[in-house]
Amino acid sequence: MSFNIAVAGKGGVGKTSLSGILIEYLVSKGLGPILAVDADANANLNEVLGEVIELSIGEIKEEVNKAEMAGVPLPPGVTKSDFFQLRLNQAIAEGNGYDLLVMGRSQGAGCYCYVNGILKNQLDILAKNYSHIVVDNEAGMEHLSRGTLGKIDILLLVSDSSRRGIQAVGRIKELVAELNLKVPVIKLIVNRAPGGVLNEGIAEEIERQGLDLIGVVPLDQNVFEYDAYGKPLVDLPADSPSKVALREIVDKLGILKK
Ligand SMILES: Nc1ncnc2c1ncn2[C@@H]1O[C@H](COP(=O)(O)OP(=O)(O)OP(=O)(O)O)[C@@H](O)[C@H]1O
Ligand SMILES: [Mg+2]
Repeated sequence: MSFNIAVAGKGGVGKTSLSGILIEYLVSKGLGPILAVDADANANLNEVLGEVIELSIGEIKEEVNKAEMAGVPLPPGVTKSDFFQLRLNQAIAEGNGYDLLVMGRSQGAGCYCYVNGILKNQLDILAKNYSHIVVDNEAGMEHLSRGTLGKIDILLLVSDSSRRGIQAVGRIKELVAELNLKVPVIKLIVNRAPGGVLNEGIAEEIERQGLDLIGVVPLDQNVFEYDAYGKPLVDLPADSPSKVALREIVDKLGILKK
């Protein structure tokens, strides 16, 4: 069974940036095979990783749903489930030491319950091919609450250095408990901390929310510059403050090969 790491938090706090740096670090440490999942409808993990995406799961769902509603086979003689599997394999982009799958969005009319069911089955089959899966979530909790992603072994909650960011991840943690999702490890990362230092007020809020802080990632000028020029963050110099800090955090998680 794969070991699944999910990254969640409020909008714009750095989930995608940290997911990308995390994936690159796991690959560099010889972990694998790794599947990176972009579970944000507004997909952009591929940019952080420097990959081009041609097909998303949302697009496949639309194709299958259209055929389902029109009652036509696609293509003749192929079951919807087989078709889904075929297209899913085409949607997997091969990265540098990992595969990337983009959930995307489906905009077609009608109910997607049927295709969501197929998707869940197919993802379960797919997951068996990987030792580690890293899921970059969108700001909402949709995929977590719908259980699309199956089990989660480590939930990394990301917040910026703001009280509201901490409160948002506090709510995610509550939701995980309410949904009775069995997540053995839930850790908080505070990102974009000025000077890499945790403000006292934020530290108090973390305590109040009962969150378990694993590390602080500093506000990193290099990240700004790479972002501004559309350069993949995975190419950041190894001594970039954000990269160094995240690597220390991953080391603490104890998931790397000894
Ligand atoms: N440590 C950091 N230092 C400086 N800038 C950062 C840092 N981390 C992230 N950023 C910047 O913050 C912005 C938001 O980052 P990112 O897209 O990773 O957030 P997100 O949580 O995935 O957002 P969304 O909720 O939209 O998916 C980006 O412009 C990114 O370059
Ligand atoms: Mg994102």
